[in-house]
Amino acid sequence: MNFLDLAKSRYTTKSYNPNKRATEQTITELKEILSLSPSSINSQPWKFIFISDERLKSELASVSYFNQQKINEASHLVVFSVIDDIQQFENQIKQNLPEGSVNYYNQFLKPKPEAEIKSWLEHQVYLSLGFFLSACASMNIDSSPMEGIKNEEYGKILQLDGYKALFAVAIGSRNPEDSNQPSIKAKSRLPLEQTIQSF
Ligand SMILES: Cc1cc2nc3c(=O)[nH]c(=O)nc-3n(C[C@H](O)[C@H](O)[C@H](O)COP(=O)(O)O)c2cc1C
Repeated sequence: MNFLDLAKSRYTTKSYNPNKRATEQTITELKEILSLSPSSINSQPWKFIFISDERLKSELASVSYFNQQKINEASHLVVFSVIDDIQQFENQIKQNLPEGSVNYYNQFLKPKPEAEIKSWLEHQVYLSLGFFLSACASMNIDSSPMEGIKNEEYGKILQLDGYKALFAVAIGSRNPEDSNQPSIKAKSRLPLEQTIQSF
């Protein structure tokens, strides 16, 4: 399938088939794909946590508001977290990035207020979400991005140290009757003329 067709057919899955698990090979590939996600200056301020353990998944589902059922039914839950300790981030880039990239950070980002630096770090993690959802579509994996989670509870349950849970993605195989799929419910978007401009 070409990319346009994938964009038309992927959707936020609301109901999963709990009996269809993603294969180990699929999960291994998705992990490698996430680690290849692009980021500004190659900053990679993230940790991606894959959960297949049913007990842990169910514990996280219970602090995920209206997303509880889909997390319980899905094959895996992937939690996207951002580095929360700026000093730790600065040490990480110093150890891993070329001098030019570190200089860019020191000149253009480090002088900003902490909230702006953290916002920039979070942008990088959101970018990996787009990368991940597209990858899932290309691998015929259904997915549900979810900001509707109790971020602090996630942090406690997963014992995130120096990282903050931003959002999660449930993945698996749709319930064939899921009413949100495009064959049943047409995709809804603003008219292209309103969101795309050309000169
Ligand atoms: C960052 C982000 C957070 C989202 N959070 C939730 C959520 O908590 N629960 C949910 O059911 N859908 C969630 N969605 C799905 C959006 O509502 C959905 O992407 C949008 O309506 C477009 O529909 P589509 O993904 O089916 O094309 C989220 C999507 C994104 C990108």
